[in-house]
Amino acid sequence: MTAMRWWLAATALVAPGSLAAQSQDPDARARETEARMQPAERTVLTHGLWALPIFPDTKLPPDAVLGAGYVEGIERLGVPPLLETDAGLGVSSVAGLRRDGATALPSGMAMGSTWDAELMRRGGAMIAGEARAKGFNTVLAGGINLVRDPRNGRTFEYLGEDPLHSGLLGGAQIAGIQSQHVLSTVKHFALNAQETGRMVVDSVIGDDAMRMSDLLAFQIAIEQGRPGAVMCAYNRVNGAPACGSDALLNRVLKRDWGYPGFVMSDWGAVKRTDQALAGLDQQSGQQIDGAAFLGAPLAEAAARDPAYAARLADMNRRILRSIYAIGLDAHPPVKGPIDLAANARLARDVADRGIVLLRNRDALLPLSPTVRSIAVIGGYADAGVLSGGGSSQVQGEGGPAVSIPMGGEGPLAKYNNQAFHPSPPLAAIRAAAPKATVTFHDGRYLTDAVAAARRAEVAIVVATQWMTEGEDVPDLSLPDGQDALIAAVAAANPRTVVVLETGGPVLMPWLEGTGAVLEAWYPGARGGEAIAATLFGKSNPSGRLPVTFPAALADLPRPALPYAETMPAKPDRAQHYPIDYRIEGADVGYRWFARRGATPLFPFGYGLSYTRFVHERPRASGGKTPAVRVTVRNAGARAGRDVPQLYLVSSPAGATMRLAGFASVALAPGEAKAVTIAIEPRVVAEHRSGQWVRPAGRYGFAIGHSAADLGPTTFVDLPARTVPTGSR
Ligand code: BGC
Repeated sequence: MTAMRWWLAATALVAPGSLAAQSQDPDARARETEARMQPAERTVLTHGLWALPIFPDTKLPPDAVLGAGYVEGIERLGVPPLLETDAGLGVSSVAGLRRDGATALPSGMAMGSTWDAELMRRGGAMIAGEARAKGFNTVLAGGINLVRDPRNGRTFEYLGEDPLHSGLLGGAQIAGIQSQHVLSTVKHFALNAQETGRMVVDSVIGDDAMRMSDLLAFQIAIEQGRPGAVMCAYNRVNGAPACGSDALLNRVLKRDWGYPGFVMSDWGAVKRTDQALAGLDQQSGQQIDGAAFLGAPLAEAAARDPAYAARLADMNRRILRSIYAIGLDAHPPVKGPIDLAANARLARDVADRGIVLLRNRDALLPLSPTVRSIAVIGGYADAGVLSGGGSSQVQGEGGPAVSIPMGGEGPLAKYNNQAFHPSPPLAAIRAAAPKATVTFHDGRYLTDAVAAARRAEVAIVVATQWMTEGEDVPDLSLPDGQDALIAAVAAANPRTVVVLETGGPVLMPWLEGTGAVLEAWYPGARGGEAIAATLFGKSNPSGRLPVTFPAALADLPRPALPYAETMPAKPDRAQHYPIDYRIEGADVGYRWFARRGATPLFPFGYGLSYTRFVHERPRASGGKTPAVRVTVRNAGARAGRDVPQLYLVSSPAGATMRLAGFASVALAPGEAKAVTIAIEPRVVAEHRSGQWVRPAGRYGFAIGHSAADLGPTTFVDLPARTVPTGSR
């Protein structure tokens, strides 16, 4: 089905009499309202403010809510303002400026590790509910940039490295948000793959390669979630600024995919009025740009140039269409109390489901509640769990448990803190093992940590790697001597468990000496409890890595992070700083490792459990909807959840290793379930000259426990199929 037909069908599905029915035919309503706009009203919706009290020249309107953005409404026409907040991990605290508390979900990496679209949808609905209760009607969520470099400072916000996985999960989050009549974005469109030089770097990549990777993630997320807006990115793509790219905005998004919503800029990504001609519909946070380029200058351009006039009409219709389709006018946000306890339970569920068990030598975990002594070491485990920095930062009621200033530049530098949610693993471990002697050592001195580890039956080292928007990490080591700390503790006590609170993948030079390793990511408002529940087996880990953990930086497509050493502090925006993504092209992450025959430290899709799953009799079938059916059996003694992953492993076009589908299956001990995993048609096709081309022939599929642990190959003959680039 073409993208446009799909859209119309989705609109027609709305049940008469339902709340959403009032938003029926949003296109017709948008056309009518646009036609009634008076000249002075025509650029009201096309630009907005950064709604923070940090600009001396900005007087925030009375109906603005302190948050990321404010776009004035048009009262005469019943058009509501856009009251915008970040974002995908919960309602953000705008650098600690708003202190009304919100529920922090675990990081994007943790969400990605669940491989569970339904959980993503629930998380999105929760965020939107809290946003409404604070007076917002727009959430700047849906961050789905693929992890092309694990050093990217925003890795923690994103969902993973695979387009199908990120697209399905991101789309589900967006759908959850919009189910509450709150508009969501999908962002950052596109190829915003590192923070170093994010305003100036130029992502260079071939058209087919990007359509089969990063753009495919957006395409799928847009189909699944139908976001009201797409937020274009800071960086350039193939020479043009992403927010002024005719190729990306007009051609790919609006023409090829038939996207009917609007494109909003990222904050500070507008420098010229003619970006509107390239497909930009709305300028955000105009104070950072220095001028309202899509305000008065756009009105002037439209008065003299029919191309601008036509564009302006279309911009208005697109913004209005999203407002009506999502029901922002009919269902304004109502400020009110939030059931923080209920929402914390959801944060806990996501944390439980997102923790990945990476190593478990001799079944050291789960720990017995009768363990006599435990030394907990490092990671501020006595105070809380780490969270990531930047616009996505969420603070619970009462603020962070620990807040360590990290410096930096710019108006928000003083809010650039390593912040810990007050959910201390130490207290939760004590509660889980009430009879044990549990000591805490902050890990600053090896002598002290080693002595404590020697005395205790079990040592638990909590290690942190802080990441933030705006800067990348220089390498994948654990900072502040934590690698040496773990090595020393593990040498002193073989029953050492490492709990990682990292933004993304890290190297583990100490791995072989340890007993067990848990990747807890940034585990959110109830992270400490989730960590303890996994350590003691109250929760059976079911997270699977959504990114490859490399064994060495040398194995990455770019062993040195581009411009890490050479980017000027204030780069000239007119200058180009290319990054060559043609190196890996569409083969991001595990596909790059497969192509090179490189063995990662931990592969994409990997994660252990306290039980054991077997995949029986996989069978591929063709027909209208090709699929693979497999029986998943829990062959162990504990209830648990498996994530059978379907990989394309051979094709007539020479494809190797592509995730083509997946499922999440809960199983009681001994239980078996047959699951049918549909094959995403675009994953088995090649993108060539504006089309998805699937040559006729024999396709091989395997069900994997990870990208590096595959079952037998099952083959199916598929006929030739060619569909336009905007179709499935
Ligand atoms: C970020 C966006 C965010 C926006 C508004 C930008 O710096 O890149 O992700 O939504 O700020 O806070």
